[in-house]
Amino acid sequence: MPDTLPYVLILYYSRQGATRALAEQIAAGVESRSGIAARLRTVPPVSPTCEAVDPEIPAEGAVYASLDDLRHCAGLALGSPTRFGNMAAPLKHFIDTTSELWIGGALIDKPATAFTSTSSLHGGQESTLITMLLPLLHHGMVYAGLPYSETELYSTTSGGTPYGASHLAGQRSDRPLDEAERHLAFAQGQRLARLALALEGAR
Ligand SMILES: Cc1cc2nc3c(=O)[nH]c(=O)nc-3n(C[C@H](O)[C@H](O)[C@H](O)COP(=O)(O)O)c2cc1C
Repeated sequence: MPDTLPYVLILYYSRQGATRALAEQIAAGVESRSGIAARLRTVPPVSPTCEAVDPEIPAEGAVYASLDDLRHCAGLALGSPTRFGNMAAPLKHFIDTTSELWIGGALIDKPATAFTSTSSLHGGQESTLITMLLPLLHHGMVYAGLPYSETELYSTTSGGTPYGASHLAGQRSDRPLDEAERHLAFAQGQRLARLALALEGAR
């Protein structure tokens, strides 16, 4: 059953915590608006050994997403570390289980956005965000990036793109979110919450 309060699903995969830090900042932006909640969910890792199964509940962090989490969301923020310029396999694996939602049109006219983290500045943030958008369009979602009214987009020397929030984690994954990255992720959550409430009223 859906919760009474509409929610934005923040669905992400994170191995070393950088994408998770962005997810939490987007969630803070969503929660800064009244009348809507943020629901953080992750996906299990995938293994080349098909028999390997993970515990139902992860050792730490957000719990694993169900199809119902996605079915009943009012908006979606999809987050992944960049892997060779694209999203990570565990998230793609989850998306590939969503055919029944696609057949039923469950996500049509809902707003969506994406976010990512990389180790190097020119290591593929934009390509990852753009390719993450493709399955969302197939689902009929309305993609919302970040507008340049967020002036940090002009000045950032790290993450933050018009395609969505991003983070430069550094080669040792030890670089925390900086001020511009935090601001832009928060703004992305706020915008998604606003659009989710507006589009929910229009559906
Ligand atoms: C298989 C693999 C491929 C990767 N590919 C890229 C890449 O194309 N560009 C890049 O800058 N970083 C790449 N990275 C580094 C991660 O994107 C980076 O460490 C990211 O911040 C990890 O996010 P997380 O802390 O949420 O797991 C790769 C890492 C792995 C394990």
